[in-house]
Amino acid sequence: MGDQMTSQNFISQKREGCTKIRKSPSFPLYQRATKGGFGSVLTALLILSSPAVAFAASGDKAFTPTNIFVPFSTPAHAIYQNASLVLTICAAIFLVVGGLLAYSIFRFRRRPEHENLEPPQVYGSNQIELAWTVIPILIVIVITLATTRTIYDVQGALPPPGTVNVTVVGHQWWWEIRYPDLGIVTANELHVPVTESGNRRPTFLKLESADVAHSFWVPQLAGKTDVIPNRRNVMWIEPTEPGTYVGNCAEYCGLQHARMLIRVIVHPPGDFENWVAAQKQPPVDDPQLRAGRDAFFSTSCINCHVIKGTKAKGQFGPDLTHLMSRETIGAGVVPNTAENLRAWVRDPQHIKPGALMPNMQLSDAELDQVVVYLASLK
Ligand code: CUA
Repeated sequence: MGDQMTSQNFISQKREGCTKIRKSPSFPLYQRATKGGFGSVLTALLILSSPAVAFAASGDKAFTPTNIFVPFSTPAHAIYQNASLVLTICAAIFLVVGGLLAYSIFRFRRRPEHENLEPPQVYGSNQIELAWTVIPILIVIVITLATTRTIYDVQGALPPPGTVNVTVVGHQWWWEIRYPDLGIVTANELHVPVTESGNRRPTFLKLESADVAHSFWVPQLAGKTDVIPNRRNVMWIEPTEPGTYVGNCAEYCGLQHARMLIRVIVHPPGDFENWVAAQKQPPVDDPQLRAGRDAFFSTSCINCHVIKGTKAKGQFGPDLTHLMSRETIGAGVVPNTAENLRAWVRDPQHIKPGALMPNMQLSDAELDQVVVYLASLK
């Protein structure tokens, strides 16, 4: 794999020059919570005390693609707001307790003249006991109410008109992405429209698993949701900035769990419809590609893959009808280039050991033909 670009390089390359990532859209609830003296002071304390937030503020690009402190979607904002509140409260508690502790250690430290004295002993003080009981209870109530409201806002949301419905099926180790209303099936790259003010276009996801437990997580768009066999979980995203967002499976699911990456491509207004139209096109039947086609259809590739309008109707692997419209191969393992595609078809195990796609033992000539055919699936 020496000359192949790693997905890590690939991600940072794709993100470079994307200045929008720094700007977090305003969020009315958050502004309300932090406006004014006390809120501002707490926010400042939080920023000073949390290394993660300091990274978010420092503009370190390496930390932005999966930074939960730079949300770009309505549910991610709600979670960020709640997390900020909890972190702020915890930072304030830390400063008060740590400050009092440091002060006491210094102010009441042992001195030579105290050699034979005992400090004053306090027993059964109602004031002190009430203080350390009532204040923590109030803090817990505030956190509980705020968290309950966030859970209600995120999990209780109903799909507005204009919602895109998607079914995501977790497989070892890739994501099947189906648009039941649009008749589109793709893999590993979820395409969705952007939400603008006055035109909400959220995407509601039904999450299913074909094998073991996975977890769908794109940190800048929503919290993580487990993908469980024989169960259907539901989540939604509502991105507010076009761009590519990355995430990954967040539940250990076997050998290649770490290489089960997700890309969410958020299209600018109107552009999502172009993508849908392109995905609905049938594959081009070019007579020049006959050799590659025949080579492909004579192998057992067709037992696992679908190419629409052909006899390839397998359901185990990713739909290949528009393979070349995807940015990566193997769920984000390598960029989808001609060399990588060839290397992948030659021996998937070399690139992604344990992947369920076997080495088909194609000859060099067959390999060339198959790759030329696959490269035509735009
Ligand atoms: Cu799928 Cu971890």
